[in-house]
Amino acid sequence: MLRQDEISTVQININDKTFILHKGESIFQMLLRQEMIFLSFCGGKGRCGRCRIKFHKGTTLPSASDRLFLTPDEIRSGIRLACTSKPKTDCVIDLIMEEKKDTKIISSYDLSDWEDSKYEESEPKAVIAVDIGTTTLAMQLILTLNSHIEAEYRKMNPQRAYGPDVISRIEADGRGEGSRMQKLIRDEVEHGIRILLEQYKLQFKETDANNRIPVVIAGNTVMQHIFMGFSTATLGIHPFTPVDVREQKLQIAGENIAFMPGISAFVGADIVAGVYALKMCSQENKNKVSLLIDLGTNGEMALGNAKKLLVSATAAGPAFEGRSISPMDGTDLIDITAELLKQGILDETGLMVEPYFEQGYQYKNNTVTQEDIRALQMAKAAICAGIRIMMREYPITPEAIDTVYLAGGFGYYLDTNSAAIIGLIPEELAGKVKAVGNTSLMGAYLYGRNADAREEVLTITELAIPVNLAEQEGFEENYLESLHFPQQDRKENHGFI
Ligand code: FES
Repeated sequence: MLRQDEISTVQININDKTFILHKGESIFQMLLRQEMIFLSFCGGKGRCGRCRIKFHKGTTLPSASDRLFLTPDEIRSGIRLACTSKPKTDCVIDLIMEEKKDTKIISSYDLSDWEDSKYEESEPKAVIAVDIGTTTLAMQLILTLNSHIEAEYRKMNPQRAYGPDVISRIEADGRGEGSRMQKLIRDEVEHGIRILLEQYKLQFKETDANNRIPVVIAGNTVMQHIFMGFSTATLGIHPFTPVDVREQKLQIAGENIAFMPGISAFVGADIVAGVYALKMCSQENKNKVSLLIDLGTNGEMALGNAKKLLVSATAAGPAFEGRSISPMDGTDLIDITAELLKQGILDETGLMVEPYFEQGYQYKNNTVTQEDIRALQMAKAAICAGIRIMMREYPITPEAIDTVYLAGGFGYYLDTNSAAIIGLIPEELAGKVKAVGNTSLMGAYLYGRNADAREEVLTITELAIPVNLAEQEGFEENYLESLHFPQQDRKENHGFI
């Protein structure tokens, strides 16, 4: 409940509806409160220029960010950024902010390695698997008898309005927005559960309330903390201590929910689910060393087998999830970057030749800008340097690594040839890459289905040794070295161990 002195008298009229601004609030914050913003690229800090509104009455003075992102004509016509607009009088506005096309939400994966595991009577009839990503939410109802996906529910993570990455969510939590973000994601998950269960009941005429379907969630540690209502304050500062990454049990809409365990502030249940789903630490694979890379915002990695497992995460940034400055999909960006390199439009340092440096390069319906290329360079450098440091710390040579699993929506569509051209994966590993889709969702399903999963997953979390890449000697040098694109006719070793 707001105190009287926190309520301002300013009324904002949008599409004939009236909203009241709280004292000191920007229009962006009011829109967030009303759940009328679905996406921002900077979390309302005046740094992305996306949250555009048009004033018809009560126009505010232009802010420094307005002047930076808007043309004089736009400013004259009453266009402003919502996050720097704090009107003192009543106003009438239109929302004209861009809504980026939705990122592909991947819920595919390959269960063929699990075909031999027979259905046990003791297993539940179905499992609802949930993958809460920083950007997307994927849910499936899967029949355990034949692993058939009976129904799916996919949405963008409604917390996107608070910024594109885990750092912006931690910052929003620090500003007191944690419970709102928690409510947003819980409501969405609850809605998904209801829809999936309704479809299941309709299909199977299931009425027995005792026949509960377990719901298993996987997600990174920040998503898990917000979902559970834990403070994220310690996740973003040294020594990066999570509140609790053990398995969490709760009930939502009367259903039993398990949030899978994670490992550290940087390596969450999504990676644990992936390591389990890919059988990286199973006894049958004890003589193979595999590398799992989840190409999301955090670029999480796991390297090893049942004897030794190193895990880490790099701040890969949003380029891979199609959330760089341009609305282009991450896979498209890699393909076109590879093409630009081959054509000589882009040089080894990542500079586009004129006139593309100024105006960007037109590709399908999008424009690849110099900024897109920079974001991609930083992301791929973080991944590449991360792989090198992980191999050095293990220690292992690229030749001794059996398979490189690329997980996440992005990995599923990745052209491994283009990835090699831009140097995303060190050259020596390029031939070992296997795109495995959403292993977080796959692991969540198997966790709900397999009676012995809890024990195996616990073993994985105990075995895993987190490596804080940023603290490792040589990370910075490796990162800087990896910023350049490989020369196109280059055959020599890339300084890789
Ligand atoms: S400038 Fe990024 S949300 Fe306003």
